[in-house]
Amino acid sequence: MEKYFNSNELREEFPSLTRTQDGRQVVYFDGPAGTQVPQRVIDAITRHYLEINTHLDGAFIPSERLNQKVAEARAIYADFFNAPSSGESAFDEIAFSLNMTSHTYNISRSIGKTLGPGDELIVTVLDHESNVSPWVALEERGVKVHCVDINPEDCTLDMADFESKLSEHTKVVAVGVAANAVGTINDIKTITAMAHSVGALMYADAVHIAPHFPIDVRDLGVDFLVCSIYKLFGPHGVGVLYGKKDVLEGLPAYKVRPSNYQKFESGTPNFEGLSGAIACIEYLADVGKKFGAPYVDRFPGLTGRRLDLKTAMAAIREYEMPLFKRMVDGMKQIPGVKIWGIADSARFDRRAPTMAFTMSGFSPRQIAKHLGENGIYVWHGDFFAQALIERLGLFETGGVVRVGLTHYNTADEVDRLIEAIHALVKKG
Ligand SMILES: Cc1ncc(COP(=O)(O)O)c(C=O)c1O
Repeated sequence: MEKYFNSNELREEFPSLTRTQDGRQVVYFDGPAGTQVPQRVIDAITRHYLEINTHLDGAFIPSERLNQKVAEARAIYADFFNAPSSGESAFDEIAFSLNMTSHTYNISRSIGKTLGPGDELIVTVLDHESNVSPWVALEERGVKVHCVDINPEDCTLDMADFESKLSEHTKVVAVGVAANAVGTINDIKTITAMAHSVGALMYADAVHIAPHFPIDVRDLGVDFLVCSIYKLFGPHGVGVLYGKKDVLEGLPAYKVRPSNYQKFESGTPNFEGLSGAIACIEYLADVGKKFGAPYVDRFPGLTGRRLDLKTAMAAIREYEMPLFKRMVDGMKQIPGVKIWGIADSARFDRRAPTMAFTMSGFSPRQIAKHLGENGIYVWHGDFFAQALIERLGLFETGGVVRVGLTHYNTADEVDRLIEAIHALVKKG
């Protein structure tokens, strides 16, 4: 029999979710800045230190096992992204670093080596600075960087503006799959096809989307895709890059001699982090095994772990979005609340379950502080999506409050948020 998603069952795997403040369980709505981790991630990191805390390529057992561990980490992320490579060949397409930002600076610098005056790049107003600043840095080589605008009424990308900036001079298009401040999901497949039509490379930031949606680099067609594991129920200090094999092979890399690391890895990686990064994907594969059966037909051609991971993310998506609707519907009832981004539930297929809002009479910090005092953890500010917050005219007033749902959140927690905001309005 098919088993439908049960958040409470999964919450049992996350020890931090049982923490209390003033006698009540705390509510983690801060996932977009980093998610909580299942016990098995903690255990995997502990075991790492006990069993394989060494370096690569040694002629002794822990080192041999570490080599296997790193290969396993590449293979599991090739599966998570549905990369063309798998198993040992994942070495050609999957690279690790400390975070998404360091990958992006590394790749932009490598691509930059091949660029000069007359070449152009495209970034967007919607994106986290980590997918903007590394490309803008290439202006020092005489490269021109265009920034695509948004439709401010719903924080979607202005596709006409993108088209007008795209030309045969464009060498890279850098866009987020989903916007970390307001949750907009971009049409990456179309943007990639447009970028490729002029011979440009497509660099997709999947940090915000990764915990919410099945990612398939083959379907999207992107040349690069990056994410950070601490937003994906794993530890800090691990960024993952997927790059198309022939594209990575064709790029010059800044690399020490005679390193046997992957071409786009420099120096010793966060080995214990990789052990945790494997465990969080194993957790997701188990979510697929438990709750993924209703979604199998959506992923023809996939089997085994690849299928489990896709059905897990489909199940998570199906669980999160009605919860998100409940939250938005509740917030819309509160006088003075403005939700930034897509607020019409008929269009929720174009957004992640991340709500940005402001409320008249209260600064974002005051709201976040009030919620924090009630054990409800949310972020306020610009979250490094500075250009977007400036474009919306919110920079001077402290940005927005961001409430990020993940699959371990519940309807009760959403109701607690709404109640707490009502109480704040009442208090004045
Ligand atoms: C959408 C998005 N992209 C990139 C980043 C940067 O990630 P990192 O700090 O791991 O480099 C973040 C972090 O908040 C993000 O939300």
